[in-house]
Amino acid sequence: MNSRMSSEWWRDAVIYQVYPRSFADSDGDGTGDLPGIRSRLPYLRDLGVDAVWLSPFYDSPQADGGYDVADYRAVDPRYGTLDDARALISSAHELGLKIVADIVPNHSSDQHEWFQQALAEGPGSPMRSRYHFLPGLGEHGEEPPNDWDSIFGGPAWTRVPDGEWYLHLFAPEQPDFNWNSPEVAAEFLDILRFWLDLGIDGFRIDVAHGLVKAEGLPSIGHAEQLHLLGNDEMPFFDQDGVHDIYRTWRTVLEDYPDRIFVAEAWTPTVARSANYVRPDELHQAFNFEYLDTAWDAAALRKVIDSSLDAMRPVGAPATWVLSNHDVTRHATRFANPPGSGTQIRTPGDRELGLRRARAATLLMLALPGSAYVYQGEELGLPDVTDLPDEVRQDPSFHRASGQDGFRDGCRVPIPWSRSGPSYDFGDGGSWLPQPSTWGDLSVEAQTSADGSTLELYRSALTIRRETPGLGAGDAVTWHDEAPAGVLWFERHGFACTVNTTKEPVRITAPGDVLLSSLGPVPVTDGSADLPGDTTVWWEL
Ligand code: NOJ
Repeated sequence: MNSRMSSEWWRDAVIYQVYPRSFADSDGDGTGDLPGIRSRLPYLRDLGVDAVWLSPFYDSPQADGGYDVADYRAVDPRYGTLDDARALISSAHELGLKIVADIVPNHSSDQHEWFQQALAEGPGSPMRSRYHFLPGLGEHGEEPPNDWDSIFGGPAWTRVPDGEWYLHLFAPEQPDFNWNSPEVAAEFLDILRFWLDLGIDGFRIDVAHGLVKAEGLPSIGHAEQLHLLGNDEMPFFDQDGVHDIYRTWRTVLEDYPDRIFVAEAWTPTVARSANYVRPDELHQAFNFEYLDTAWDAAALRKVIDSSLDAMRPVGAPATWVLSNHDVTRHATRFANPPGSGTQIRTPGDRELGLRRARAATLLMLALPGSAYVYQGEELGLPDVTDLPDEVRQDPSFHRASGQDGFRDGCRVPIPWSRSGPSYDFGDGGSWLPQPSTWGDLSVEAQTSADGSTLELYRSALTIRRETPGLGAGDAVTWHDEAPAGVLWFERHGFACTVNTTKEPVRITAPGDVLLSSLGPVPVTDGSADLPGDTTVWWEL
């Protein structure tokens, strides 16, 4: 079923993630902004995506790239004004694009008015109960209240001058809200309505799994805590109580048809992720297990099956994602040996990485459900692995003493033109240095260029729109005679074959070639040689 024309647009939507700081800079200050994004909306319409997810653009000291919000109802002056947000939303709608905004309910900025008041009003004050303030342990309260580590490294507690400690699962500049506080719950319902009234089509919920902490904030009791975004069982993640919050949030949407919620939920299993998208909760949850899967046919088949199996009983679409603003771009992940993780500082084999990235993208776009594309992946951008330490701004890099937190590498502003001081990102510089080779990867260089990655994405998205077998759905039919290392599945008049090996593999052509991730694939006497690390789409 192609749900694009129905009100359930999100069931097969391709959602393009914009990192506002790095997309387009309208005023030449080196930082992207909302008018810049607005000016590039026709590019996104022509690319063929359905919706744009904006990482946070709210007023923020930018201690964590805007995931530290000081005022949830204001736009950061670096990015523009509320009027710019209104204009962006309305231009997007005129072009047929939806806008999904990030919302950050787990924590605020330490510069948020409430936190500042909580600090000023002292222990026992009502404002302190909106965050997690506690006395310390030890004779003089000199030990943190429990043993939790921050996901960005170091303890998850910081002591304030009056002796109490406050909880921050991320940086100290990001104090966690106490969701047992009725004021916190009411405030977020109001914030949702504020943006819905402004015309926002949905929200991507940051750390959706973190809002509720286990009763009594129990210690974990061992030193081995996960320092990444964490999908182990933890007393601060995936507590059952979060679902009550989302049931309440869902009722807000009764007044706003066609709007959606997407969970960034790290859970121990995909089945636990499915809890977030039960019919009376959220619409989609990110599939990080898919993002984490190596370029290996068996592993991919397993995660595709388990994702579809997990979502089917709750009736939610599976989602697929390969890159975002928190992980090494997939062109660089696939250039490095399997098991290198998602915070990589080596460029690896660039050619191989790009070839696999293109094949991986065609696989992702052929799967049933909704797909997420991160800005610049349509240009085949690699991660910038050699940023000098002194320009890095990722707080986790600094908290982990430079041993982790290489997220700046995927946040380098994207190149629009072949030349110019920042390849037309703006007419000034760029807040992170762009590699000297990026002119050749620019939108200008790749537009209408035969075989370019940009044209591959454009073709794929056009075909995806026009082919009834693509888009929404909850199952694929595996072709069991697929040679080793080849994924082969069918969906209503469509087939996708993926050769994950390095060598060409001969198959019986299932039909006519619709698209290949690597140049033409000739069919002779009913057979085709699938080149290594290539995906081919077929019309049956
Ligand atoms: C997840 C966001 O994607 C990431 O960028 C951020 O650092 C953390 N949540 C904390 O808000």
